[in-house]
Amino acid sequence: MEKQTAEKMIELATGQLAFSYAPYSGFKVGAALLTQEGKIYTGCNIENAAYTPSNCAERTAFFKAVSEGEQAFEAICIVGGKDGVLTDYTAPCGVCRQVMMEFCNPDTFQIILAVSKEQYKIFTLKELFPLGFGPDNLGK
Ligand code: THU
Repeated sequence: MEKQTAEKMIELATGQLAFSYAPYSGFKVGAALLTQEGKIYTGCNIENAAYTPSNCAERTAFFKAVSEGEQAFEAICIVGGKDGVLTDYTAPCGVCRQVMMEFCNPDTFQIILAVSKEQYKIFTLKELFPLGFGPDNLGK
C-alpha cells in the first residue's frame, strides 16, 4: 500500500463522518473501500430506532460497491469516534469482518485503522479474523 493511497483513503473515510447517521450511539464511523482497479467506494454508519437494522460504515461501503458490480477489493480504511472526534482506532465489528471474508482474500486484503493521516496502522484481514469461515469452506 502506497502512503499516498492510504492518505487518500483516510481523507475520504474521514469525510464520511459528516454523513454518519448515529443519533442513538453518537458514535460516528466512516469507511473508504479500495477496489483492485483503484476505485474508492465510501460509507458511513446508519443507525435505526429499532436498533438491529443499523448498518456499519464498512458494510455500507461494501454493499454500495457490490451493488455497482464490484467484487475485487484491495483495502478498506476505517475511522470512527464519539461525536465524530477521532481519538483512537476503530476496528471493524465481527459482522463486518465476516462480510470482508466473503469478498476478500484474507492473506492480502488490507485494513487501515486511522486516527489521522499521520497516525494509522495496517492489518491484513487474516490478522483481524484468523481461521475465518468463507466461500472456500463451501468449495466456492
Ligand atoms: N460501527 C461501525 O460503523 N463500524 C465499526 O467498525 C464499529 C461500529 C458503528 C455501529 C453503530 O452505529 C456505532 O458504530 C456504535 O456501535
